[in-house]
Amino acid sequence: MRVLVTPDYESLSQTAADLIVKAIRVKPALRIGLPTGNTPLGLYEELVKKHREGTLDLSQVTTFNLDEFLGLPQGHPQSFHTYMRQHLFGNVNVPPQNIHIPNGSPGVDADAESKRYEEAIEKAGGLDLLVVGIGSNGHIAFNEPGAAFNSRTRVVDLAAETIANAQRQFGAEPAPRQAITMGIATMLEARRIVLLAAGAAKAGVVERALRGPATESLPASALQRHSEVIAILDEAASGPGKIG
Ligand code: PGA
Repeated sequence: MRVLVTPDYESLSQTAADLIVKAIRVKPALRIGLPTGNTPLGLYEELVKKHREGTLDLSQVTTFNLDEFLGLPQGHPQSFHTYMRQHLFGNVNVPPQNIHIPNGSPGVDADAESKRYEEAIEKAGGLDLLVVGIGSNGHIAFNEPGAAFNSRTRVVDLAAETIANAQRQFGAEPAPRQAITMGIATMLEARRIVLLAAGAAKAGVVERALRGPATESLPASALQRHSEVIAILDEAASGPGKIG
């Protein structure tokens, strides 16, 4: 695992964007796994900026989002469909038919959707690059502590901490308690993985994920089992021990 420590969040975002731009230059039809959350917001801003400047063409790229809440209509303000449209897809030129996000809408057969999603990734030829954040409880995508390292795309119960974090965005409406997520094995099959972590609140969990034992009680530690991972951290997330 390579660890890159950047001075601040802005340079973390720029570094991640540069890496993606370069990967798309090398392979314009890149198949890329994409996260939501706060951490990648700066990265998406950079990608939109580069697209507007004319230095980034996403017309051949195929995307697969990591996860989606279960039980929200796609147009719900807190759905990951909405997040992706607002922060990336509404502002760049990924063809709509190349965009994949699990469908967690009410009434959907979520088990069948999970299977379909896993197969769609496989049918596309797998992921060239997967970008992922880390939850404060060590989750990657919505693989919560205890998730099997051999897990595939499936319906999961969210951890209490994850629900509590989400609740801040949901206001008076109860936050979803379940989601569809790529599995850990699904994610580890990506050819390259970029882990992003920013802020001092992540320093402890990042240290344990990168340097502690690989254990299912800390899903992000599964990344140690992959030979092509680059962790891009800001100074704060690299912690007092200064990882790297
Ligand atoms: P965050 O979430 O980017 O909002 O911190 C990361 C995650 O939970 O995977």
